[in-house]
Amino acid sequence: MADAVFISDPRSIKRLFAADRVNSVASRRNLVLAPVVGDRSLLLIDGDQHLTRRRLMLPPFHGERMRAYERVMEEATEREISRWPVGREFTIHPSMQAITLEVIMRAVFGVMGSRREELRGLLLRILASTRSPLAIGLTLPVVRDHGRFRAMRQTIAQADRLLVAEIASRRTDPDAAERGDILSLLVAAQDEQGEGMSDAELRDQLMTLLMAGHETTATALAWAFDLLLHHPAAMERLRAELDTGEHDYLDAVIEETLRLRPVVPFVGRDLKQNATLGGYELPAGITVMAAIYLAHTNATTFPGPYAFRPDRFLTEPPETYSWIPFGGGTRRCIGAAFAQVEMRVVLRTVLRAVELRAGSNAPEAIVRRNVTLSPRGGTPVVAERRRERVRSAA
Ligand code: HEM
Repeated sequence: MADAVFISDPRSIKRLFAADRVNSVASRRNLVLAPVVGDRSLLLIDGDQHLTRRRLMLPPFHGERMRAYERVMEEATEREISRWPVGREFTIHPSMQAITLEVIMRAVFGVMGSRREELRGLLLRILASTRSPLAIGLTLPVVRDHGRFRAMRQTIAQADRLLVAEIASRRTDPDAAERGDILSLLVAAQDEQGEGMSDAELRDQLMTLLMAGHETTATALAWAFDLLLHHPAAMERLRAELDTGEHDYLDAVIEETLRLRPVVPFVGRDLKQNATLGGYELPAGITVMAAIYLAHTNATTFPGPYAFRPDRFLTEPPETYSWIPFGGGTRRCIGAAFAQVEMRVVLRTVLRAVELRAGSNAPEAIVRRNVTLSPRGGTPVVAERRRERVRSAA
């Protein structure tokens, strides 16, 4: 495996991302993700192929479409709240996963028939098994066909069969043009040569959206609750703002959460040409990692870097490339707006419906789960019904 250099100053990160057309995505990303998302995944392809595919996949994530997802996000949150025990401790991270999985499945497939529940169960199993760093065994010829790795590969194959069946029924659906879900849009999408995606490629892109699109957001939400519950003044201010229907402070809370607890700690590129970054000559062939957590805790850009202070995002936006929870360049997360809207809707819906208390005295420790940084104990909380704002969930 190539040597890796970590960078964290905004100017070097900007230069790294600006060279995205030349460099490729870090090959170690392939190692961890390829067995699940497939070789044709947007996350793993490079160069012109990446740009063409990205163009096809971006439209469902643009502005107007977000409005349509908001109602789905709200309903999924209300349903989940109605299952919460009252006055008894539970962990909120799994609950956030249930919401975000429901939301991404609805966004990707729209209304789905009988395959839905089976696919949901399989996705949860795939996710649970890939959370461990041992998932790397999926790619190692010596072990990949044995024991737990074989079972994981079988689960992925089962999910594939369902995805391919869903793609087939969408291709022949006479109403596909009116459906508006992501799968229908991708089935109809064509590049400049008039070429669409094959079933095999669609399978990889669907698996990419389902996997990249829910665990990350769920973890970010668990962190937001953890930070708010251990900073009562911020929680009070947020509740007061929610009563007015504004969302400036809510957005600042989300930005500060993603700064202090970036779900993905670094993103890498393999250099295809020599480069000078931060005064260092770096040879082609090495991996350069933009160290997101280090960039986010730079005391010059963010004074008091380890303190949770949403206000800092209210006054002036941070210098470009100093706040990069979604990476950058031509590979910046295509679901960034979707994730931020989802965080906004879920936080707002939960905090309007229930009063939450922290289930622990101290904030959560950070634990690395494969490619993400998660709250170690799943963020324990206690929910109590809120008087006047109790909605259908109560
Ligand atoms: C808080 C939630 C999320 C975080 C922190 C996050 C973070 C990231 C990061 C760091 C990257 C790599 C960017 C780079 O290499 O420069 C990425 C890429 C990607 N993300 Fe997200 N993501 C989130 C939510 C989502 C959602 C909701 C979706 C889809 C619905 C999604 C789909 C993708 C895809 C397809 C890529 C690959 C983009 C490309 O290579 O062109 N992500 N994300």
